[in-house]
Amino acid sequence: MSLELPTDRLLIREWELGDAEDALKIYGADEVAHWLTPEWHPVNETDAMRSVLHAWIEAGPNLIPPAGRWAIVRRQDGQLVGGLSLKLLPPFEEDFELSWALRPDVWGRGYATEASRAVIAWAFEQGIEEVFAVARPRNERAIAVARRLGMEWVGETEKYYDMRLQVFRLRPG
Ligand SMILES: CC(C)(COP(=O)(O)OP(=O)(O)OC[C@H]1O[C@@H](n2cnc3c(N)ncnc32)[C@H](O)[C@@H]1OP(=O)(O)O)[C@@H](O)C(=O)NCCC(=O)NCCS
Repeated sequence: MSLELPTDRLLIREWELGDAEDALKIYGADEVAHWLTPEWHPVNETDAMRSVLHAWIEAGPNLIPPAGRWAIVRRQDGQLVGGLSLKLLPPFEEDFELSWALRPDVWGRGYATEASRAVIAWAFEQGIEEVFAVARPRNERAIAVARRLGMEWVGETEKYYDMRLQVFRLRPG
């Protein structure tokens, strides 16, 4: 499902192969990679990042809507500042998980919250009834985003990704 979603400061759009160099500044940063799920293989070079983007772009049309992976671009200067995804959580693939990654030098400006609000509103328009976020207990910034979005704390579980995670949920309204 192709998406282009503007907010006050940002544009959420599909990934392009030409994003590889800028995407590496996000996903190649230790401060970001450290917190990603165990499925994530660290990426240190533009070519490797391009391969990841290629896989994401190829997989897009086969995801169950409204799942997707998107780039977050700052409208003011066109810079790629982050990525956002809505994916079915393993292993049961019933719950949609929202997750974020921002380039470390733009943390603290509310971009993750702003982009998430837009994607969540759009996802609810598509008919899903809840959105989840999961975070490691020590990932204070991710937990703060979930709380800022008004998500409720559901509990702690090891059922996703075989690791202890805090679970948050948001329902329409
Ligand atoms: C998780 C992550 C996206 C959060 O980024 P973040 O910048 O802290 O979150 P936001 O973009 O929502 O910004 C919130 C901060 O901006 C501030 N802010 C400034 N302007 C704001 C605005 N207009 N709206 C909301 N917050 C604003 C808030 O006060 C808050 O500041 P604080 O951190 O000092 O309390 C980022 O830390 C990251 O990429 N981490 C690595 C990857 C990761 O952990 N992903 C989640 C896996 S579950």
